[in-house]
Amino acid sequence: MISDAIETTQCQRKDPVDLFHSGHFVKICAPMVRYSKLAFRTLVRKYNCDLCYTPMIVAADFVRSLKARDSEFTTNEGDRPLIVQFAAKEPQILSDAARIVCPFADGIDLNCGCPQRIHDDLKRTVDLCRKAEATGVSWITVHGRNVEERHQPVHYDAIKIIKQNVSIPIVANGDIKTLKDAENIHHMTEADGVMVARGLLANPAMFAGYEETPLKCIKDWVNIALEHGTPFTCFHHHLMYMMERITSKQEKRVFNVLSSTSAVLDYLSDHYGV
Ligand SMILES: Cc1cc2nc3c(=O)[nH]c(=O)nc-3n(C[C@H](O)[C@H](O)[C@H](O)COP(=O)(O)O)c2cc1C
Repeated sequence: MISDAIETTQCQRKDPVDLFHSGHFVKICAPMVRYSKLAFRTLVRKYNCDLCYTPMIVAADFVRSLKARDSEFTTNEGDRPLIVQFAAKEPQILSDAARIVCPFADGIDLNCGCPQRIHDDLKRTVDLCRKAEATGVSWITVHGRNVEERHQPVHYDAIKIIKQNVSIPIVANGDIKTLKDAENIHHMTEADGVMVARGLLANPAMFAGYEETPLKCIKDWVNIALEHGTPFTCFHHHLMYMMERITSKQEKRVFNVLSSTSAVLDYLSDHYGV
């Protein structure tokens, strides 16, 4: 993934690059198709997430269709700093999409390798990162796995080598589940930030130091999701992720097949007083 702040005169904004000069490592919510939408971003920002990405948006559809823009991208004033992730093959299309979205975002990200990002021959990855740096990107996020790897350990050593070979900030991604993991990986890789996907789905409060989802975070999700008119499937899926570690198999068998908002609300109220 390669992130690049958008130049614009259309709105006042904080430069997200400043986050990397704050003296702390930057805690980032990853782009997640179907999941890192406005309601979820609102939730993780409440729990110490410094920067959020939208789900990946296909730039060509975004440029072509107002309907796609409305369904793929929603934001509000509190939703900053925000990076919009695009998938694009044509530079012109990416540029057009960036121009459309720039009044509402702090940067755009080009998805360059979802889900694996490093090459077997690390030299090729370092060369690619250097080329990206030379084009003027603001920072690079590296998921430390190659294309064949799914559940194998993340190559944090590779992220460290990339960091040592470029001057722009590097963000480490892969298998970060707790704030402690984030701190360790920051020390291990010397990366300027950490990006988390599944760890935040399982526990949106992890950047605030919680080891598992606290009940107040579940309550916050219910309130935020209902306020945003979140579709039932999305509302329910997030709760299934968040409650994975705190519910028994038997509880999951009941909770995971609930099929309406009112049934979920009743369940949460009866079992958790939420
Ligand atoms: C549900 C889900 C959706 C994802 N969608 C995207 C996406 O839209 N763009 C992207 O670059 N990566 C996407 N990814 C990959 C993550 O951003 C991340 O690189 C990967 O999950 C490894 O990080 P993790 O170990 O913290 O989960 C997605 C991952 C998950 C679990």
